[in-house]
Amino acid sequence: MTPGTAISFDQIVASEDKFQLATYKKMPIAAERGEGVWIYTGDGQKYLDLYGGHAVAGTGHCHPHVVRALQKQAGQLLFYSNLVYSETRARAAEKLVSVAPAQLSKAFFCNSGTEANENAMRMARMFTERENIITFSGGFHGRTADAISATFLGKYREIGKPNVPGHLEVEFGNIDSVNELADESVAAIMLEPIQSMAGVRTVAPEFFRNLRDICDQLGIVLIFDEVQTGIGRTGEWFFAGSPAADGVVPDTVTLAKALGSGVPVGACLVTDSIASKIKENDLGTTFGGGMFAMAAVTATLEAIEQDQMLENVRRVEAYLRERLKEVEQVVSVKGCGFLLGLEFADKAAPIHKGLLDRKIITGTSSDPKVLRLLPPLCLGVNEVDLFVDELRHCF
Ligand SMILES: Cc1ncc(COP(=O)(O)O)c(C=O)c1O
Repeated sequence: MTPGTAISFDQIVASEDKFQLATYKKMPIAAERGEGVWIYTGDGQKYLDLYGGHAVAGTGHCHPHVVRALQKQAGQLLFYSNLVYSETRARAAEKLVSVAPAQLSKAFFCNSGTEANENAMRMARMFTERENIITFSGGFHGRTADAISATFLGKYREIGKPNVPGHLEVEFGNIDSVNELADESVAAIMLEPIQSMAGVRTVAPEFFRNLRDICDQLGIVLIFDEVQTGIGRTGEWFFAGSPAADGVVPDTVTLAKALGSGVPVGACLVTDSIASKIKENDLGTTFGGGMFAMAAVTATLEAIEQDQMLENVRRVEAYLRERLKEVEQVVSVKGCGFLLGLEFADKAAPIHKGLLDRKIITGTSSDPKVLRLLPPLCLGVNEVDLFVDELRHCF
């Protein structure tokens, strides 16, 4: 390839396939540019993005406020570590804590969802001086050693062998199953409040209340993995503290994905009492809290606020649910906000492909009958109309 010269789609595919490990089954699209809910290819095609690149594009692609903030920060200082103070980092931490439930008063910044979960579990072990971690069948928490060992979904734990010891599996939504294993050897109970990859599985709000009670009785740290549900996706800033959680606030929330609008960044939010046990050098990461990522965090949260995206998610979700009633093949709509699973009577893969042929990007899940929608939080009713019309044409 000659630098600076445009290459064809076929050349891009040939080059990626030759020089990159084949770890993902890719869609036959070469994304070149993005704007809001749209992705554009080099040859001028436009795709409606209802997947947001794995739920990352919360503010939409290239939100002007985020882009301006990143351009400014890039010209100022790309990075310095936590060895120095920084106004950009101070603003990001304050802003993030200000939108979180009041009990979650301190942030630790890292670079990804798996890293946020590793650190959340480590803090829980330090705080309780216990080792075991309870997680749920169907939950996904990442691919690094401890996080993959906490992941009781499909083949993942197998890939991560040998697993980190001390991980206990219980049934999602079954409080008796939790009660059987919860005791004073357990440091944390960690869960995805909505199990996204498993097929957008939800549980009743009382389940969170019961978990909170168990944790309070036994001195266990409750961790919500909000890597997907956080930063506005459910129509609230966080699942924690929301009506869907019966108002329950965990001791730790982990975040990544939409937090940086595409700039890699993760975070743990913890209570004062957990924070008080964490000392210098207990946790660390070179890149965590770097200025470029921190500028992305602040601008992301500001963009969501300025454009009233939380209200938009709630309004457009209601409209989408209403319109989906017209599609008889949709058996149920799972999830909430813009983390939705459309369940079909039959396999979802042909529908995923049919929509892609009609230039709409959606996601599959580990439930073969569930198609996932994780669109940018700025999705509007016109795009919902387009989606529903095209979906009907798939049958
Ligand atoms: C709920 C949840 N937790 C953790 C992760 C891991 O995040 P990352 O891929 O940024 O490490 C993911 C990724 O899909 C996720 O969906």
